[in-house]
Formats: sequence, structure tokens, C-alpha cells
Amino acid sequence: MRRKLAAGNWKMNGLLGDLAQLDQLAKAPLPPQIDTLICPPATLIHPAIAQTRGSALAIGAQDCHAQSAGAFTGDISALQLRDLGASAAILGHSERREGHGESDQLVAAKAHAAQAAGLCAIICLGETLAQRQAGDTLQVIGAQFAGSVPATLDPALLVLAYEPVWAIGSGLIPTLPQIAEVHSALRTALEARFGAEAAHTVRLLYGGSVKPDNAAEVFGVADVDGALVGGASLNAQDFSAIVQALAAA
Ligand code: 13P
Repeated sequence: MRRKLAAGNWKMNGLLGDLAQLDQLAKAPLPPQIDTLICPPATLIHPAIAQTRGSALAIGAQDCHAQSAGAFTGDISALQLRDLGASAAILGHSERREGHGESDQLVAAKAHAAQAAGLCAIICLGETLAQRQAGDTLQVIGAQFAGSVPATLDPALLVLAYEPVWAIGSGLIPTLPQIAEVHSALRTALEARFGAEAAHTVRLLYGGSVKPDNAAEVFGVADVDGALVGGASLNAQDFSAIVQALAAA
């Protein structure tokens, strides 16, 4: 049985003073039957880990470099993140694919680097609105999967997040059958890649405008093993409500 995962992506939000939100989260009894993860900006990873030590709240990163060290000004390696105590890295988020020109091949290389350092690689996939309207969603997701999720990855340290680009930060979410269709296609792709047994250990998250008021219905969809939450993860009360909805699903 897969453990469900509620993951928060703070993106480029948060100053030291905002770590108080983590205190609130970590001190509230986190449901023991699910995993809870917050990925703050890189500047807050170290203090966040220090602050939540001893709690069930895990801390992760939002990116990593494909190399473990070297002359890469401004970049951060998976090894450095692991050294701080991070346990996961979000990779291939659409904001990095679009804003930083990240290719499927680069995302795959980063995923290898993350896993080599012992981090769980959370690989994001998702279609644009134009691609959905053109009826190309499954083809786009299939191509991203083919390029970003090579068979050489370790399924034990892998999570996939389906994040439709048009649902991120927009307040819009796909219909429940649309989410189910993509998650089912991803499960089938995982089976072909890693074999049925390993494929069923990989968690599939939905991300894009998950809020306290829609979380329960999203978590009721087959093959949704949790959420990758942006805006609503910045507020401890909202994220807690989503965590509780996942624990109850
Ligand atoms: P929102 O929850 O703000 O739509 O962001 C989703 C996301 O991009 C998480 O990675």
C-alpha cells in the first residue's frame, strides 16, 4: 500500500519570519498514516530543518543541479541539499521548464543526481491549456514521461506530480474524470517502465489550485496518492486542512 503524501511548494515565497507557519504545522499533530513535506525556497531549507527537527514534517527543495559539485555559479547540488537534511527535490516544475528552458533530458539528469544523493525525486508533468484544448493532453504527458522518467531511475525514490500548467495558481482545476484519466495513464506508463510491482509503489500527486475546499474530492479520485500544493501551502491553517483531508481519504 502506498503512503499518501501531502507536499507543499512555497516557490519563491517566504522570509525567515514565515518559518512560524512551519512551527504551527509541525506542532499540530500530523496524521501518522501519511507523509507531509514542505519545500521552502533554498534560503529557508536549513533553518526549516533545524526548526522542524523531531517532528514528522519533512523538508525538501524545489530544484537541484544535475552535477554533484563544480563551477556552476548560483546552483545548488543534490548532495548539498542532502547534506542539510533535505529528503526530496521537486524537479521539472512547469515554472522551471518554461522560465528556465529545462528540457526533459535535463529533468531526467537532475532526477538521477537527486536519487544518487538519496533524495526522493518529485518529477512534475503537465499540459498547457492550448494542448488540452487541442486534445493532446495524454500525448504531451506521455512524451514528458518518456523523456523525464528514464528506466534507470529508482522507483523507490520517485514521485510523479501531474500539474496541468493552466491549473497552477489560477483557481481552475480539471474535472475529476480528467484527473483520473491522466493518473491512470501515468500508472500504466510506470508499469511499462518499471514493472507492475515497482510501479505500484510510486506515488502520483495532483497539483494545481488544490485548496481546502476541493481537496477531499480530488483525493477521492482513483490513483491520486496526494497533492503538490502551491499557494495554499503558505498558510499553515490551509495546508493543515488539506493534510487532514488526505489523511481521511
Ligand atoms: P497552486 O497550488 O498555487 O496552484 O500551485 C501548484 C503548484 O505549482 C505546486 O507545485
